[in-house]
Amino acid sequence: MDKSIKIFAPATVANVGPGYDVLGLALENIGDEIEMSLSDSKSITIDIPGSDLPADPKLNVAGVAAQSLLDKLGIDQGLNMTIHKKVAPGSGLGSSASSSAGAVFGLNELLEKPFTKNELVQFAMEGEKAASGVSHADNVAPSLLGGFTLVRSYEPLDIISLAYPEELIIVAVHPHIEVKTADSKKILRRDISLGLAVKQWGNVAGLVSGLASADYSLIGRSLEDLIVEPTRSMLIPGFESLKSSAVKHGALGCSISGSGPSVFALCNNQQVARNVGEAFSNIFDELTIDSNVYISKINKEGCEVI
Ligand code: HSE
Repeated sequence: MDKSIKIFAPATVANVGPGYDVLGLALENIGDEIEMSLSDSKSITIDIPGSDLPADPKLNVAGVAAQSLLDKLGIDQGLNMTIHKKVAPGSGLGSSASSSAGAVFGLNELLEKPFTKNELVQFAMEGEKAASGVSHADNVAPSLLGGFTLVRSYEPLDIISLAYPEELIIVAVHPHIEVKTADSKKILRRDISLGLAVKQWGNVAGLVSGLASADYSLIGRSLEDLIVEPTRSMLIPGFESLKSSAVKHGALGCSISGSGPSVFALCNNQQVARNVGEAFSNIFDELTIDSNVYISKINKEGCEVI
């Protein structure tokens, strides 16, 4: 019988404030699990128990990502995948990235590692393109590699693993309303002023510097997105209350996770993180919107065989 493996592919928080499409981090305690085995059939089969996501490999992000890896190798290899979705689609926590990254990571393992994890990012991006129309890497890179990543360049693809303080804690709240990345990308302004761009890249550089030197005050000051958040926050009920409440409870800062509707805060203290999580949950309770809160350190491993 063919070898069968199970993969954990972490959920992610992308953009992380000012870094639209370039910054992302991996979460520890949430991610898709994918059972995978090679087959002799020359086709990809996908089963997603309990989900209405497409099982057709040409339409499913994991199928598209896996196929792009096989195309690069020029081989006609059959593959069976059972995807246990733990990251809710349309949550802003990198659901499509988790499946895409897990699929290419697992396939690479089964084929005895023709590619490095870094090289796998290009294939996982094809899954993102199928999901949102744009092949962005800010979710798939941290899901594959773990840690806090920067997409310094898309052409050529240049992914940098950033230094960050061990104590950093992410509080993410997922309100049970769906925002599709494709829609949430379409509403963004295409042109921005030079003045706004100057402020934004100051914040990106400040955030990267604050992470490297564990300067929490600098991280907090830099966690400001002046370009994307003002538009997207209109899609998230209670966003201003979430943000002010996070800061009031001692979070370093707060912004939208990916394309929303999840919202995240960065903290450097467990008690503060718990208080922020409770405050987030209470705000959505008052709005009669169900929500889940995740409190996590940064996942160092990325995709792994479990
Ligand atoms: N960088 C992407 C966006 C992430 O903000 O549209 C989508 O999860």
